[in-house]
Parts: sequence; structure tokens; C-alpha cells
Amino acid sequence: MISSQMGDRDQAIMDALPEAPVTPAADALEGWRSGVVYQVYPRSFSDTDGDGVGDLAGILDHLDYLNDGSPDSLGIDAIWLSPIYPSAGFDSGYDVSDYSAIDRIFGTLSDFERLVAEAHRRGIRVILDLVLNHTSHLHPWFVESRASRTGLRSDWYIWRDPAGYSPAGRPRRPNNWVSFFGGPAWTWDATREQFYLHTFLPQQPDLNWRNPAVRAAVLEIIRTWLDRGVDGFRFDVFNAFFKHADLPSNPYRLGGRRAYSRQVHLYDKNQPELVELLAEIRQIVDELPGRMTVGELFEGSVRQAAAYTAPGHLIFDFSLIRQPWSARAFARAIAEREAAFGPGGWPTIVLSNHDQSRSASRYDDGPHGDARVKVAATLLLTLRGTPFLYYGEEIGLRDVAVPWAEIQDPAARRSRFLSSWWNRDQARAPMPWGLGPNAGFSTARPWLRMSPESATRNVASQTADPRSVLSYYRRLIWLRRSRSALSVGSYEAVGIGDASVFAYLRRAADQAALVVLGFGRRAVTVALPESPSGRPWRAILSTHDPLPPAGDRLELRPLEAVIFVDD
Ligand code: BGC
Repeated sequence: MISSQMGDRDQAIMDALPEAPVTPAADALEGWRSGVVYQVYPRSFSDTDGDGVGDLAGILDHLDYLNDGSPDSLGIDAIWLSPIYPSAGFDSGYDVSDYSAIDRIFGTLSDFERLVAEAHRRGIRVILDLVLNHTSHLHPWFVESRASRTGLRSDWYIWRDPAGYSPAGRPRRPNNWVSFFGGPAWTWDATREQFYLHTFLPQQPDLNWRNPAVRAAVLEIIRTWLDRGVDGFRFDVFNAFFKHADLPSNPYRLGGRRAYSRQVHLYDKNQPELVELLAEIRQIVDELPGRMTVGELFEGSVRQAAAYTAPGHLIFDFSLIRQPWSARAFARAIAEREAAFGPGGWPTIVLSNHDQSRSASRYDDGPHGDARVKVAATLLLTLRGTPFLYYGEEIGLRDVAVPWAEIQDPAARRSRFLSSWWNRDQARAPMPWGLGPNAGFSTARPWLRMSPESATRNVASQTADPRSVLSYYRRLIWLRRSRSALSVGSYEAVGIGDASVFAYLRRAADQAALVVLGFGRRAVTVALPESPSGRPWRAILSTHDPLPPAGDRLELRPLEAVIFVDD
């Protein structure tokens, strides 16, 4: 229960909370709109077998932390697990060598079944990450495919003859496509005397989605995991599954630090066949009620994100991650999203993930400590859309610098030679839980170094501190659960007359909430709009103590976020 140390603002939230926690909406798919998804990077979450790498049992141990039904827990609705399948380990699990099994490093299938059962017992749904654009080069499908041009699986990957030979006899690549991780997207195979395509590493050959046998095999994998009780899937680089059938070269464009950004990706992704594939996937997924899918939009626009969104199917677009710390920039980006999605469409809200610098680091503003982190948390959990919270974001975990000798991210290791690349290990530091060796993450040396702040920035110390980032997240999430205006309500930007403030109104059938976010270092006085009910706005949550008084004017303190209601 909420600790007695808490003051007025907690009382206000308690008053706002319903008697019992709000369960996901009656319409099963509606639950994916109102719910909060928490991304677990299994390697870095919690290690129970003492090998320095997180595992499924570690996730199980912390399910109560994630949601035990009380406002003392975080209160999330679903966990998305980054890949847990056997992998050759060239891209931290995003190079799968068996889609139906669990990597020994994480545990066994029965550990997984226990995790699903225990998550479900707490009302937490489980989303798996399916990496279907490519497999590992060690996947038996690829091993068989590369063995001959005529075998059963010869056409399961994208193989092409060379576009001629150089005078020195070197095979020329079929087109100009480049790998996202640097270097050409084609690797020569001496056995087949052909090139194969890889959008990422040579150890991640792209599947040939135009081959019906590939399609059938992949759909079978989806069925297998649905039968094992999972509630949804995240599809890795979803919009890259199909390439143009003729594989034409991409046009070049000016600018861009990396070769990949110096091409217009007309032919190596975003092909029209994707829409029909999605319909087929949804048909299978919809055989069970309430299953969701979310596609990662690999380097795409907000408009593409909106176009690929479908009932039960969300799309990650990373437009918010790209915004600088500026009220105007966020207001503009959200106006663009709202215009693209329209009131009937449903976006996702993502500020951090395992590929990007953590939001707490991007917004880090030394002298103000966690003030910006709390404003960002308010944004993440009150915008219109399904929020995805990345493990550690709830304690304001920062990126952790990793010296060259310890780098695990293959793209970063290659980058020295092939392209400039941000080392993604920095955003994947092990979770600091509390006291003990490695802040309770593992008794062994962790696979990646811990944050140097772990002794003070961890779950236990933030649980004990009612002013911590974690305590704020908990209040915010439980408040969101109790107020449909904040979760499923409509969105309307509110002009508040100060360039350092971003404000918006969320409205559901019978309630409204006004969110005011101060991005600036100066205190400002702003006039609040008239409330829909005509009653004065009443603050129910603020990043600062005490709550601002009710009224039509607000003295916003530096870097303060406030949520008002009018009932
Ligand atoms: C994943 C990355 C991965 C890449 C290739 C992505 O977008 O999120 O972590 O390296 O796909 O699978």
C-alpha cells in the first residue's frame, strides 16, 4: 500500500483511484490501447543462475515488481521480451537459429511456460519478439539453402547471380544495396557461386518472403507460440520483409553520415505485399481473442506508421525519440502524428528501447537531476497511444559508457571499419535492483558493465524515496489506469501562450484531463483553458510538491509537469 510518508499529492491520487484496479477494457483489443507495455531485455534484467546473463527465472522473480495488483507495484499491463530463442549470438539474439525453442542461456521451455502462467496470474500479458526478416546464418534453413542451388530450401533466401565479373574475375554484386550495419548488403557464397542478401550482418541472411513455403513455415511458428499462450508479437523490422521482386538498385541521395542513409530505400523495403501479409498474420492471430501485434517500422515516416496500423496491430515509429528537449519540437511532432493517424488511428509512444540512447541520457541536464526525466515520463504516459516503457526507464537509468575492449554490439565492433555506429550496449546495462553484488543483478560478473550509479540509482533505493523517479512512475501509471481520459481519451493540443510549455487535453466520454508540461528552466505563469465541465481544473499529479492550487491560472515551476481534472 502507499506509504505513510506520502503527502497531499498521493492522497489526491488515492482519491482518484477506483476501489479495485481497473482491469483491461472489456473489448479485448481495446486493452492494448489502454495498457502500458514494458520492454524487458532478458540478458540485462535479472540473473538467477549466476552466469552474468539475465534469464527467464529472473523475470519471473520480478513479476510482482511489475504488477502485483497494488499501486506499490509499477502497474504495467504487458511485457515484451526481446528475443529468447537459440541464437548464434552475432546480434544479441536478433539472429535466430531456432524459432521454436528457448536459448539455454535464458532457461527452458518449462521456465517459459511458468513465466507465462505466472504473468497471466497477475494480469500481465506476454509479447514475444519475432525476428522474421532474417534468420541466423546457422539456422538449418540457411545451412540447407546455401548447400546447393537445387535443394528443397534453395529458394528460401534471396540468392542472385552476380551482375557479371570484373576484369580480375571478381563477381559483381547484383545491385547497390547496402547493409544497415555497414558494408554491402550482398555476400558471395563460394559453394552456390551466388550472392545472398542481408539487410543487417552477413550472419543474418534475409528470408525470401515471396516463397510460399517460407510464409507457411513462419506462420506455423506464430501458431506454435500462440498455442503456448503468448498474447502478442513484436515483429522486428517489419516493413523490410518484402523487397521489390526485380531487386532494382536504390536511387542515391545527398547527405547522411552512413552509406545506408545516402540511399532512398525505394526497393529494399515498404513493398505493397506487406499489407496482404499482415492480413494473413492477423487472421491467424485473431483466431484467439485479444492478441496483439506490433511492427517495428524500420527507418520510416509517421505517415507510413499510420498506414501500416490495423485493428490489433500497432506500429512503432521513432519520431518522438528524435525530438530534442523542446516543448515546440514535441508539440510539432505530435501534431504531425495526430494528423497522420487521425482520431480513429492509434499510435505507439516510445522514448527509449534497446537500440537507442536512453531518454534519460538524451535529456540529461546535469544540474536538474531527474526533473526532465519526470516530465518525459508524464509525456510518455499521457499522450494518446500505447506507451512502451523500456526496463530501467522507470528509475531514470542512463546510458553506460562501454570501453572498446568490452563492446558486445557487433554493429559497433564493425563500425570501426565500415560505418560510424552508436554502440547500443550503452542502452543495455544490467538492471540495478538494490544492494548486493552488482546491485542485485547477478552474483557473477555481468555480461555488460553496470551503471556507475547503481549503488544509488536502483529499484530498492527509489522504492524507499517517495520523490524518486520510480515513485513518480508508479503514481503516474496507476493514475493512468484509473482515468480513461488519460489512456483511451481523445487528444487536443492546447495553446497556453508560452513557448516553453506544451499542453494538451485528453477527453473520454465522461471525463477530461489537462496535461501541462514545462520544458523550461524558468517559472512561468500560464492561463488554463476553460474546462469542459465548467468546473475549475484541479491538479491531481505534479512532478513537484505541493500540488498547484485549483484555478484558472497556473504558476508553473521550472521543469514541472501537472495533470489536472475537472470533476
Ligand atoms: C532490432 C535490432 C536488431 C535489428 C536486426 C532491429 O531493429 O531492434 O536490435 O539489430 O533489428 O534484427
